[in-house]
Amino acid sequence: ACLSAVVLMGCGGNDDAPDQPQVIAHRGASGYLPEHTLAGYELAIRMGTDFIEPDLQLTKDGALVAIHDDTLTRTTNVADRFAQRNGGYKVADFTLAEVKTLTVIPTGTGKASYPGFTPSAATPFAVPTFQEVVDFAKKQSNTVGREVGIYPEAKQADPVMEDGILKILSASGYNVRSKIFIQSFSDETVRSLRTKQNAQNNKMPLVLLGVATLAADGTAGVGVIGTAGVKPLTFKEVAGFAEGVGVVINNTTYPITKAYIDKAHAAGLKVHGWTFAKADGAMAADEFRRYLDMGMDGMFANYPDQGVAARDAFVKSR
Ligand code: G3P
Ligand code: CA
Repeated sequence: ACLSAVVLMGCGGNDDAPDQPQVIAHRGASGYLPEHTLAGYELAIRMGTDFIEPDLQLTKDGALVAIHDDTLTRTTNVADRFAQRNGGYKVADFTLAEVKTLTVIPTGTGKASYPGFTPSAATPFAVPTFQEVVDFAKKQSNTVGREVGIYPEAKQADPVMEDGILKILSASGYNVRSKIFIQSFSDETVRSLRTKQNAQNNKMPLVLLGVATLAADGTAGVGVIGTAGVKPLTFKEVAGFAEGVGVVINNTTYPITKAYIDKAHAAGLKVHGWTFAKADGAMAADEFRRYLDMGMDGMFANYPDQGVAARDAFVKSR
């Protein structure tokens, strides 16, 4: 950890070196603070993360908000403030004004505060809109003196969500040169995003999420996870509509190997892995190093300081 430096100026960072492996703060600094909050994103930035990751859902009145689940139940105090609607607390059943009355609560290893860190946002533990996350990343970029990337995920395979993401990003000045990846587990969504980007002449990088697949004949690609099972797509197919793949780590059925990453690179694709979630420093360092040695390009990390430390050590050793 890097407590004293966090308070003053941050503790690491890549000085805008896009060719080195990138650390993506998974749901913010979610190992330390409530996930998908401006406080969690800010702590991750102070820890030197390259990207912050907002997962996105749509409210009843069509606002994009940063929250992982399609319900408010797990991560907010909704049950204390509202009666159930349609038998539950779906984000899509609540207006933005209602969502804004809620507080995001600690889950997992996240705590309500982080020692020595005072969030700068006025409402650091409210559910942020996507626009607020974009604006926050820009503001923080000025504060820390380097570009803070954003890595939004379309959590629903929904054309309305696609349109909303692209509209906000374009209006906020993002383009092909920006520090951004848009991700989805749905290949239909990623394909559709690419089609719409082409039509709008604004092609921001896209990532297809799934599992690593490496067939016995050496054909490598991504398994798209669906209700009917895993649908394999080859790297060649994915490279037709995306710039990268985001694959689960530590999966024994579909292990990531150096050969797998080499094949992705040969197809022109980046390989990002999720989720690096080890709290123990030595164990985390070992895990990051194992995937960095395979050639991984980006790592979704619950403890971004661990990721930055491992990445910096890796770069120094090359
Ligand atoms: O988006 C990559 C990784 O975050 C996927 O896992 O469930 O945390 O969105 P999840
Ligand atoms: Ca995600």
